[in-house]
Amino acid sequence: MKVILFGATGMVGQGVLRECLVDPGVTSVLVVGRGPTGQQNAKLREIVHDNFTDFSRIESELTGYDACFFCLGVSSVGMDEARYRHLTYDITLAAATALSRLNPGMVFTYVTGSGTDSTGQGKQMWARVKGKTENDLLKLPFKAAYMFRPAGIQPLHGVRSKTGWVNAIYVVTAPLLSYLVRTAPKYMTTSEQLGRAMIKVARDGYPKHLLESEDINAI
Ligand SMILES: NC(=O)c1ccc[n+]([C@@H]2O[C@H](COP(=O)([O-])OP(=O)(O)OC[C@H]3O[C@@H](n4cnc5c(N)ncnc54)[C@H](OP(=O)(O)O)[C@@H]3O)[C@@H](O)[C@H]2O)c1
Repeated sequence: MKVILFGATGMVGQGVLRECLVDPGVTSVLVVGRGPTGQQNAKLREIVHDNFTDFSRIESELTGYDACFFCLGVSSVGMDEARYRHLTYDITLAAATALSRLNPGMVFTYVTGSGTDSTGQGKQMWARVKGKTENDLLKLPFKAAYMFRPAGIQPLHGVRSKTGWVNAIYVVTAPLLSYLVRTAPKYMTTSEQLGRAMIKVARDGYPKHLLESEDINAI
């Protein structure tokens, strides 16, 4: 399977990249990002791109792929709706629209989040924007599209947040998080489980298009 990965410098994307690099069924990974991941691997190729609403300049390099793992995303904390919609909806749909045209046989998987509002009518701004993003991704002419909605994610295998104090919290709470992964799969998964589930679903399909934390942990 040939994979394109967005968001590989982020916490979720680092975990997904790690699983792609260790999975023998993933033969190549093309990372598209604003800056390099700093990783070296024979399966890995990177494109540094500057405009995430226009991929026309790099289109010729985005063809011939089987799956896209879209892990690019931001927290809505402190952001107004217009900015959050731009970074969530506009960027994701721009990339996905180009990829669906260039790779009609592609499986697209989007990392969204637990509590996403598919109705678009709810009170929480982030949940409405993510819901609209999911709904419109599901209309694109991919072979299939899957929306992964993790709740908490325990970073494993050296995956790190860019925020120092967040890493400190993950270190201090690691035993509790591991316990929750085992006992409360509705609320907690690991970066390893999420990455593996995305690869498996892209390869084998899944009966539902929306996958909650419990589904991700059961794969
Ligand atoms: N972390 C969690 O526990 C968790 C749980 C549930 C759902 N999620 C969802 O998973 C997604 C990723 O979260 P994360 O924790 O991995 O976030 P993160 O660590 O902040 O990483 C965000 C990624 O998106 C890229 N990005 C952000 N803004 C961009 C822009 N304007 N143009 C191009 N690239 C941009 C970043 O690239 P740069 O390195 O260039 O900034 C980075 O690769 C989000 O949608 C989030 O809601 C996360």
